[in-house]
This record gives sequence, structure tokens and C-alpha cells, in this order.
Amino acid sequence: MTAVHPARAPGKAGPPIPMLIRTRKGLVAARAAVPEPVVLVPTMGALHDGHRSLMRLARELAGPGGSVVVSIFVNPLQFGPGEDFERYPRSLEEDLALCAEEGASAVFNPGRAQMYPAEPMVTVNPGPLGRVLEGSSRPGFFDGVLTVVLKLFQLTRPDTAVFGAKDAQQLALIRQMVTDLDLGVRIEATPVFRDPDGLAASSRNGYLSASARTSALALPEALAAASPLAAHGRAAVLAAARAVLDAAAAASPPVELDYLVLVDARTFTETGPGYRGPATLLVAAKVGGTRLIDNVSLEIGGSLT
Ligand code: PAF
Repeated sequence: MTAVHPARAPGKAGPPIPMLIRTRKGLVAARAAVPEPVVLVPTMGALHDGHRSLMRLARELAGPGGSVVVSIFVNPLQFGPGEDFERYPRSLEEDLALCAEEGASAVFNPGRAQMYPAEPMVTVNPGPLGRVLEGSSRPGFFDGVLTVVLKLFQLTRPDTAVFGAKDAQQLALIRQMVTDLDLGVRIEATPVFRDPDGLAASSRNGYLSASARTSALALPEALAAASPLAAHGRAAVLAAARAVLDAAAAASPPVELDYLVLVDARTFTETGPGYRGPATLLVAAKVGGTRLIDNVSLEIGGSLT
């Protein structure tokens, strides 16, 4: 097995250090060696408190006898031309320390050539849901996400995998892939994790200047303004969120709205007038050149939409 146990300073106590695995072969061997159930937490690294919440749920689901495997891989396949693949934050040392604190048994951190020895000719087609919203703004994004997640599932063969609800469309597509391709992996999700100021935790928040971060707070504020109006129906919800975002379009730097939509939580399709039932209000915007997404779950109860 190609596994490395990172060194700890002599005499320094701390949580057990997870196995660091760099190769696909090593991962397959580690999978055979670690106690079941195995819960996988796929990440691109630059780990923050939102990832901690994923790992805590994973630890709980694995139980005292099971294992949490964290993958850290900045997946080139899900970045389009001109996106931030090169400058995406990478912080392996800190990430490993966080994984140790959260009780991971193994961390899979392959290089590009390990995951993609050759440019893949076969990739996962995310279907129509993968071509709207994030998929429309970022063509090929979900093909890349689903392809790497499927590969991680094949290599790790987890009983369960944990994802964050912030990436709501990604989560819906992963669930769809598991169903449609009979993958037999249980998918669990954690709620959107927010920093104390309300901004949804994201590895890309580090790109924001202080003023851009202030502007970006319009996203959670829009969702917070809309939420209490759920009983009044779809139109009220959208109008309340839109008012906050319209005002933020004049902020410095401005919030450049990409989309604000209310989707049916069961199908992820856009709701129409008169919709009642579970819904997700989704927002995506660029602030100071950084693309941000956020969402909130609502029960839409009104009929006068
Ligand atoms: O959500 C992410 O961090 C990534 O899209 C994922 C699921 C790890 C695939 O690269």
C-alpha cells in the first residue's frame, strides 16, 4: 500500500494521524484494510468549518467501529477555461491537521496523473438537470463533478458519502446519479454551514476583499428576508429576496446577480405560480470577481402567487 503517515513532532500529543494515501492502488488497499462501515467525504481541500461539519456527520455515521475517508483533490475536470483551477487554494498541511482533529482514518490526496492517467474519453453526462443554473453558467461543470465523484466511489466503495447542502444542485445530481446508475451508496448531507456573519462557508470566500465580503452578505440577507414569507407564497418569497439583491447591485463592489430561482425540492425543477410544497430558494452571484452560491429550504404554503 502506498500510504504515508505524516510525521508528528516528537513528544507532541494529538489526535491519531490519518493515513495519507497518494495513489489509486493505495486507496483500494486502504479500503480493504480499514474497518467498515466506510464513510467518504469528497472535498477539494482548503478545508474550513463547513468541511468540519461534513466530517462530524461522517464520523457519527461511521460509528465508533467504522472509518471516515476524506478525499482532497482539486478536480481539473470541473473547471472551465478562465476559471480558478490554477489559483484554487491548496493547503494540505492544515487540511491534514483538520482531518486528524475530526477523526478521519485516511486521507486520499492523489495527483492529477493518478486520477486521470490519460484524458478521460468517457465521462458522466449529468442530463438536463446538469445543464441549467450552475450547469448553464459553468458548462461542463457537472460532467466533471459527477465523473470524479463516480471514480471516487469506485475506488473507495463507501457505504455512505457526505456532501454539503450549499451545493444544492450538485447534491441533487449526485443523488440522481446514484439512483440512475445503481451505485448503492447512501448519500447524506449537512445543512449550509454559515460563518458568524451569515456568509455560507466556502473555500472561495478567501478570494473576497473586506468590502467584497460585506457586499456578499446580501446573498444570505436575501434568503433571510424571503424565508419568513414562505407561507405567503412563491411571489412574495421571490420579491423579498429580489429587493435585497437589487439594492446590493448598487453596493461597492456590486453584487452581480446570475440567478435567483425557487425550485421544487423534490425534482429541482423551477416552480411556477401557485406552487405549494417543499422548495429551495437558490441564488448565485459574482462579487468582486468571485462567484458565490447560497440557498435555503422553504415550505411554500401560499396559493395567491
Ligand atoms: O463540492 C466539492 O468540493 C466538489 O465538487 C467535489 C464533490 C469534491 C468533487 O470534486
